[in-house]
Amino acid sequence: MSRRILVTSALPYVSGSIHLGTLLEEIQTDIWVRFQRLRGHQVHYVCGDDAHGTATMLLAEERGVDPEALIEEFRQEHVRDFQGFHVAHDNYYTTHCEENRQLSESIFEALRKQELIFTREVEQLFDPERKLFLADRFVKGDCPRCGSADQYGDNCDNCGATYDATDLNNPRSTLSGATPELAKSEHYFFDLPVYAEMLDEWTASGAVQPEVRNKLREWLEAGLKAWDISRDAPYFGFVIPGTQGKYFYVWMDAPIGYMASFKNLAERRDDLDFDDFWRADSDTELHHFIGKDIVNFHALFWPAVLDGAGYRKPTRIHTHGFVTVNGTKMSKSKGTFIKASTYLAHLDPEYLRYYYATKLNGTVDDLDINFDDFVQRVNSDLVGKIVNIASRCAGFISKQFDGRLSSKLHDPGLQQQFIERKEEIAELFEIGNTGRAVREITALADLANQYIAHHAPWAMIKEEGKRDEVQAVCSQGINLFRLLAIYLKPILPKMAEAAENFLNVEPLTWEDLDGMLVDHEIEAFKPLFTRMDKKDADALVASSVEAEPESESASDEAAGPEADHISIDDFAKVELRVARIESAEPVEGADKLLRLTLDVGDHQRQVLAGIKSAYEAAHLPGRLCVVVANLAPRKMRFGTSQGMVLAAGPGDSDIFLLSPDAGAKPGMIVR
Ligand code: MSP
Ligand code: ZN
Repeated sequence: MSRRILVTSALPYVSGSIHLGTLLEEIQTDIWVRFQRLRGHQVHYVCGDDAHGTATMLLAEERGVDPEALIEEFRQEHVRDFQGFHVAHDNYYTTHCEENRQLSESIFEALRKQELIFTREVEQLFDPERKLFLADRFVKGDCPRCGSADQYGDNCDNCGATYDATDLNNPRSTLSGATPELAKSEHYFFDLPVYAEMLDEWTASGAVQPEVRNKLREWLEAGLKAWDISRDAPYFGFVIPGTQGKYFYVWMDAPIGYMASFKNLAERRDDLDFDDFWRADSDTELHHFIGKDIVNFHALFWPAVLDGAGYRKPTRIHTHGFVTVNGTKMSKSKGTFIKASTYLAHLDPEYLRYYYATKLNGTVDDLDINFDDFVQRVNSDLVGKIVNIASRCAGFISKQFDGRLSSKLHDPGLQQQFIERKEEIAELFEIGNTGRAVREITALADLANQYIAHHAPWAMIKEEGKRDEVQAVCSQGINLFRLLAIYLKPILPKMAEAAENFLNVEPLTWEDLDGMLVDHEIEAFKPLFTRMDKKDADALVASSVEAEPESESASDEAAGPEADHISIDDFAKVELRVARIESAEPVEGADKLLRLTLDVGDHQRQVLAGIKSAYEAAHLPGRLCVVVANLAPRKMRFGTSQGMVLAAGPGDSDIFLLSPDAGAKPGMIVR
C-alpha cells in the first residue's frame, strides 16, 4: 500500500553558509526521500531557512540592510547549494513568512487555552550600551568553576562546566565590551513537565533510535523544566499576540516552520491538503531528519507543543551524528570547514553523496571524512566495480550487434540472485543504514564482474561459433548493471539518469527490479562517471583554508599583575609540531621570504618564512624544523602562510632554525 509521507531536514540558520555538515543531513534525507519515491510512495519533502533570532538582526545591522533582504539573499544561496547536490526539496521556504506567523500565533493561542502557558519574571544579563538582553553566546567571562578566562555564558571550553551566564565572573558583552547588568523582565513559559508521561511513551514507541531513547530517558528522569519561549525586544521574529515587545524565541517558531513550508506548498497544489498531514488523527507519516545537537528541541518540546495545540506527533525522528574531517572537528584554518559552493567548484556532488551513503549507518555516531578513503571508495567501488560492468559489456553490444540485446537471459539464476536481495536492501534504506546497503550492492557488483571475467567475452569473440554467446553474456552483464542502477538510484540520481539514457528505458522504479531487458536496443555507451582525482580533493582543501575569525582576545586590554607569566594552560594552547621541509623557494618580489612546503605528518602546508637572508633555499629540503601548527593562517601580500617556523637570532645572516635531532618524525608534538 502506498504511504503518504511528509519529510523534513532541519532548517539551516539563515546567516551561515551550507557546509559539509549541513550537507550530510540534507543528502541523508534526500536519499531516504528518493528511496521512498522509487518504491512508489507519495512523499513531500520540505525545508527552508531558520530566519529569526538575534544573530540575523545583528548581521543585517552590520551590513546595513533590511533583515528581509538578507534573508532572501541567503535563501537563494542555500537553494542553489542544495540543487547543486541534487537535493530535491519540494519547497525550500523560510520561517519568516505569513504562514508561519499565523501558525505560530494560533498554536500559542491553543496552548494558552489549554493553560499550558504561564509568565514568570526572569533575571538576565543586559547590555547597557546596546540596550538588549544578552543570549549566552553574547556573554564572555571567567569560568565560575576553573577560573579560565574568555568563556561563553553557557559552558566552559576548558573544564566542561555548564552554568548560567549570570554565574560568570568578570562578565562582558561580546557585542559592546560593556559589563552587563542584571535586569528583570517577564517571560512566557510553556509548561513542558505536564508532558513527561506522554513523552516517555512516545519515545518508547519507536519514534526515535534506541540510543536517542536512552538520552531522552535520562532527561526525563532528571525532570523536565518549563520552557522559556519568549525573548525581549530588540529581536528579529514574531511578536507574541497580546504583548508589546515580547517575541517568540527562535526555537519556538522554527519547527513550526516545517508546517509553514508545507502549508505554502499545499496552497500551490490541488492534490495536497494541509490538514491531512497535521490533524491529530492523521493517517499520514511525518519524518524529521536532524543532527544530534538538536534532539531536545525535536523530541521533547516539539511533540509536546504539537500535542498541546491539537496536532499530530512526528512518526519518527531520524538523528545523525556530526561530520568530522580526518578525525577532528571541521576547522577553517585547516581547510576542512568546506562550504557547499567551494566543494562544487572542485568535485562532482555524487562523489560526496556516495561517500556519505557508504558511511551512514542509522546511528548517531559521528562520521569521519578521510580524503584518501574518499578517493578510494569512489574510484574502486563506483568506477572500478559498478560502472565497469556496463563499460565492459556495452562495446560488444554496440559494435558487434547493432546495440541489440539478446532475446533471453544467459544466467537467469544470477539475475535472480540480484533480485532476491531487494527486501533486505530496502529494509536497510528504510532504517538509514545505507552503509550496509551499499556493501550489499557492491558485493553484487563483485559477482557481476566475476561472471564477466569468467566468460571473458573479449576472448570468446575470437572463437568460431561463439557470437551468440558473446551477445548473451554481454546482455546479461548489462541486465545486472541495470539492477545495480536501480538499487543505487536514491544515492546517485544523475548516474541513474545517465544509465537510463544508455539503457534507453523510462525512469527506473523499484518494481522494475522484477523486469529484464531482452531483445531491446540500447544506446552507445558514454562514460557514466569519471574517476576522482586526489589532486582535486587536495585543491578543495587548499582553497578552503581561511583565517579563523579574529578572536576578541585580551591582547589589547590592560595587562594584569601577572602579565609577565603565562599559565601552563596558555602554553598548552600553542601547538608545536615537528615538520620536514619538503621544498623551499624564494618568493618573487619579497626580499626576506622563502616559501616552504612542510610535511607536518598528516598533511602538507605552506609557510612563508623570513629566513632568506640566512638560508639558501636549495639547502633546506629534507631538513627538520619546528612549526607553530595552530597559528591562525595569515594572508600576506605574497600568499597565505599556514603557521610559522621557529628560529632564533637577531636577523640577517644570524638566523638559526630550530631543528629537532634526527629521528624525530614530522607531526610529532613538541613539548
Ligand atoms: N536552525 C537550527 C535547526 C532548526 S530546525 C527547526 C539549526 N541550524 S544549523 O544550521 O545549525 O544546523 C542545521 C542542521 O545541520 C542541524 O540538524 C545540525 O545538527 C546539522 N549540522 C550542523 N553542523 C553539522 C556537522 N558538522 N555535522 C553534521 N550535522 C551538522 O540547528
Ligand atoms: Zn572552567
